[in-house]
Formats: sequence, C-alpha cells, structure tokens
Amino acid sequence: MKGAKAAVAEFDRLGGVCLNRGCIPSKALIASSTQYQKMKEAESFGIKLSSAPVYDWPAMRARKDKIVGGLVSGIGQLFKSHGVAHYTGFGRISGKKEVTVTDENRKETKLEADNIIIATGSRAANLGPFPVDGIRILNSDHLLALDHLPKSMFIIGAGVIGCEWACMLALLDVEVTMVEMLERVLPMEDANNSKLLERELKKMNVQVLTNTKVEALEPGPQGIKAKLAGGKIVDANQVLVAVGRSYNTEDIGLSEVKVETNKNGSIPAGADMRTNDKNIFAIGDVRGEILLAYTAVHDGAVAVDNALGAKVRKDYTGVPSVIFTHPEVASVGLTQKEAEEKYKIATGKFPFRNLGKALGENEPAGEVLVIADKKTDKLLGVHICGAHATDIIHVAALAINRGLTAKELGSLIFGHPVMSEAIMEAVHDVHGTCAHLTKKKV
Ligand code: NAI
Repeated sequence: MKGAKAAVAEFDRLGGVCLNRGCIPSKALIASSTQYQKMKEAESFGIKLSSAPVYDWPAMRARKDKIVGGLVSGIGQLFKSHGVAHYTGFGRISGKKEVTVTDENRKETKLEADNIIIATGSRAANLGPFPVDGIRILNSDHLLALDHLPKSMFIIGAGVIGCEWACMLALLDVEVTMVEMLERVLPMEDANNSKLLERELKKMNVQVLTNTKVEALEPGPQGIKAKLAGGKIVDANQVLVAVGRSYNTEDIGLSEVKVETNKNGSIPAGADMRTNDKNIFAIGDVRGEILLAYTAVHDGAVAVDNALGAKVRKDYTGVPSVIFTHPEVASVGLTQKEAEEKYKIATGKFPFRNLGKALGENEPAGEVLVIADKKTDKLLGVHICGAHATDIIHVAALAINRGLTAKELGSLIFGHPVMSEAIMEAVHDVHGTCAHLTKKKV
C-alpha cells in the first residue's frame, strides 16, 4: 500500500499464533462456553428450557476451525489484492540483504531485499522439570485441538492464558485447579482486578492456589498427580502449562549477520524497530517487550515507515490490556501501585451491580477503578473487571492516549443504558460527585 515491493516467508498457515493458535480460536471457544453458560441461566431471564442445555465440544471446535479457516484464506486474498508475494517455507537470513526460504521438499529460494523485518513471534514456554507431552501435560496449542474435554484440569500459571482457560473450562463443567507461584492471579494487572477475578473464579468452583509451586507431576489415578510445595496433592486428568512464552529466534540466521539477541532469546530493537543492523527490523513478540498481537501490528507499521525512509517511533500510550476471562478483565495506564510510586492520587470506583444495563444482562459482577493525579486531575489508569470490559475499556484508552483529565472524560454525555457508563460513574466518583453511589461517610 505504501509503494514498496514486499514478500513474506511463512512455513505454516498464514496468520501466525493470533489467528491459528491464539486470540481468534480461543475467543471463538470462549464465545461457545459463555453461550452455554447463558443457556444455563435461561430461567433467570424468564425462559424455560425443556431440558438442560448440553454442549458438543467437537461441534464447538468445528465452529472455531471454520472461523479460523475463513480468516486464514482471507489473508491470502489480501496478499494477492495488495501484490504481496507469499513464499511457503522456513525463512532464514542468509546475508545482510538476503533471505533464503526452504520449503518442505528442501527446495531453496533466495530473496533479496533492502530491508528485512523479523516477525517470527513466540511459542508456549516449557516448564523445565515437566516437559509438555501433548497427552497428559499440555500447552494451550494442545487444548485447542483436544478431541474431548477432560473431567478435571490442573493449570500451572495464573497469567493471561491460565485464567482465560480456567474460566472457559469451568464454564464447560471441567473441574479446574490453578496454581500460581506469585501472590495473586493475573499478577501483572492491578491488584483490584486480581481480587475481583479471583472472587469470580471461586464462584465458578475453580480452586485457586496462589504463592504455590509444583514440586512434582507423577502418574496418578486420574492421569496426573501434582505434588505441591507444602504437601498438598491434586489429582487431575490433564495438566495445562501456561507459564509464559519462548522466542522464535533459533536457526533464523541472526548470528551470521550479527543481529544481537537478549539472554532470553528475544531481539532488542529500538523505538524505531531497528535491530543493531539498520536494515534489519524486529517487531512483535520476538522483541520480548510486550507480547500482544495488536501492539505487533503497531510495531509493523513503525518498521515499514522507517524502512521506507520516515523517522517514526513506537507509541504505546494508552494501549489497553484485554483479557477474556469470565467476567472479562481490561485495563489501561498505570496500576494503583505504580501510580502511587509517582503521584499523589485520587481514585473512584463503580460496581456493575449498581448499573441498570449490567442488571438487565444478568452481569452484576465486578467494578471499574479509575485512578487520577490528585494535583492535575489527569487520568493515570482505568481498571475494569466485568462483562464487556474488553470493549468498553477503549473509551478510557482514548482518554489516556489523549492525556484527558477525569473531569474531561466525565463531561462526556454517555448513552444510557450502556456498560461503559460504569467508567463515567467511576470517573465522577474520583471527585466524590457520583450520583448513583450512596454518599460516602467522612
Ligand atoms: P503470563 O506471563 O501471562 O503468565 C504466566 C504465569 O505463570 C505468571 O503469572 C507466572 O507467575 C506464572 N508461573 C510461572 N512459572 C510458574 C510455576 N512454575 N508455577 C506456578 N506459576 C508459574 O503467560 P501466559 O499466560 O503463558 O501468556 C503468554 C503471553 O500471551 C502473555 O504475554 C500474554 O500477554 C499473551 N496472551 C495475551 C492474551 C490477551 O491479551 N487476551 C491471551 C493469551 C495470551
């Protein structure tokens, strides 16, 4: 679109982890599991079902595969329409301005380019002592391809993947136990969101064990026996290892062209996405800074502009975090702890149980937390745990991206009744002017 000649090497289906094994397939399955949950709640909506709802996992998987398949072929069509050449095979940088693509028949194609962009991404990390075997010890790739769901699942790691899968599996009636070595679930999120989500996980009968390490995984009566530090033993059919990601930087020719890597295998790149070689760029997960498909897209745009002669730097101001748990968790800006380290702050909160739209939707769980600079009123952070959090956070993301104050965001007339009103109410609460909260005792 910007006039350059472009070619992409990919050995797998187009679309990477996000489309084939991450964001899209997991969200398609999450939608099936929440639909099943909604049907279980039918009576509370005044609907009587003639029998209890029953889910069909292979049919859910087939639905997910159809969505993914359609989007994958869509990328192929977009490539054709924009004139992007696609080479199927493993790409390796074989010279400062050369990439060699080796296909499955070992046929090599050499491509020359003025600029090379490395976008090789990441894969599920292994947990040293407990190697993933795809049968009893799984990663999230295996879960997406399961023929049938187990009765029980033991999850190691309560980060984004652990929590999203814990919710989805629990909604589908799987008994879930989740261990996290740090003190709370979603340790990277604001503590308020962790607390609210943990409460909802417990309501879904997910057993959450924080500050806990796994000492051993052994064959047990149900499949696996997990021995935890402190002596507790958990029996489960299968284990999901969700302890972070490893970077795909092996065998892609980095050392030959002297592109530096960090100790953990990621590639350091500047705000202009350049590696230590000015014509070789690195974008997305492989940089190791932020592992999100949507920031990778931004990185890509920055790299392309710079490769074509512009002088552009990345700008992550107001990038939201969106986590598809039940209820959802989303946030933007500083956590309360981070904000308190730098500013005198004022906070406001609004619970979804006070919101008409949330009650109408049978979604009273969770709340919004807003953090502002007490002196300037500038918005510093917004943290939401609740239904549709991943959509409504964008009002707050734009406000933080544009440097708005709490008053400025609160002056917007929100539609009614909508879930994002909870943000407006929490913003008013920062100034003690939230009419839909009872007066605070001073
Ligand atoms: P993560 O870094 O989010 O969480 C891993 C968790 O495992 C951490 O809380 C860590 O403390 C814990 N842990 C590590 N070793 C452990 C051990 N031995 N025992 C117990 N706990 C242990 O990584 P995760 O969940 O694997 O996700 C990978 C990446 O994918 C993340 O960077 C995330 O941003 C991205 N992702 C984003 C999604 C979204 O934006 N909705 C969805 C899924 C993944």
